[in-house]
Amino acid sequence: MSTRRPVVGGNFKCNGDFNFIKTHTEVLKTIPKNNVDVYVAPSAIHLKTLADNLKGTHIEVAAQNVYYEKPGAWTGELNVEQLLDCGLKTVIIGHSERRRIMGETNEQSAKKAARAISLGMTVAFCIGETLEERKAGKVDEVNFAQLEALRAVLKEADWKNIIIAYEPVWSIGTGVVATPEQAQEVHASLRKWLAEKVSKAVADATRIQYGGSVNAANCAALGKCPDIDGFLVGGASLKPEFVQIVTTLGEVKK
Ligand code: PGA
Repeated sequence: MSTRRPVVGGNFKCNGDFNFIKTHTEVLKTIPKNNVDVYVAPSAIHLKTLADNLKGTHIEVAAQNVYYEKPGAWTGELNVEQLLDCGLKTVIIGHSERRRIMGETNEQSAKKAARAISLGMTVAFCIGETLEERKAGKVDEVNFAQLEALRAVLKEADWKNIIIAYEPVWSIGTGVVATPEQAQEVHASLRKWLAEKVSKAVADATRIQYGGSVNAANCAALGKCPDIDGFLVGGASLKPEFVQIVTTLGEVKK
């Protein structure tokens, strides 16, 4: 069994109002304190409220995005200093919705990660291929290119602040979950890439989450795969089912 500590993230995306945050706080507080690290990422407008609500618990609050520049004239953006000021330690970067819908490039995602890490934050760095890319046999090519942009801006020591979230685009929000075999195969090749391009120590230590239609029913089979260290959960993180996912992963990783 690996020494990597399992980790589950909840990505609320652009969902919820203040009332939801209030009621969901009570759900999140029922997440057992087990062998799993947990972070939840609400919309930016709810970050401070949720961070205050969960202060003193083992549930961390994370941002869904951050800008790569220092504070300044960047209308509509958030800077790393502002996330730190809210008490946050973790930020999701390079989610496929930012890459594919907002047009964020591999280089921009990497720059965001580098700046967040330079100020001490942990980054959940999302990568993943589209269905067309998978059908064209380009899974490794696409994922490695996204990681290569990150590698280009990090020092080896920075990787301790990286969680990789492998999220095949065809599986996000579609109800089509990757099979454990499909996910394990990609996770193993990501770990091999890390060993070859960064170091064996980084490959052994880096946590790789799977994301895409994870729910309470499919998480046990995925969690049993040796290179799957946890999940990044979208839709199911908005429901009490999220508690079950953390509990189940804790059990299968014991
Ligand atoms: P999903 O989203 O669980 O709703 O598929 C996952 C994600 O986008 O992080």
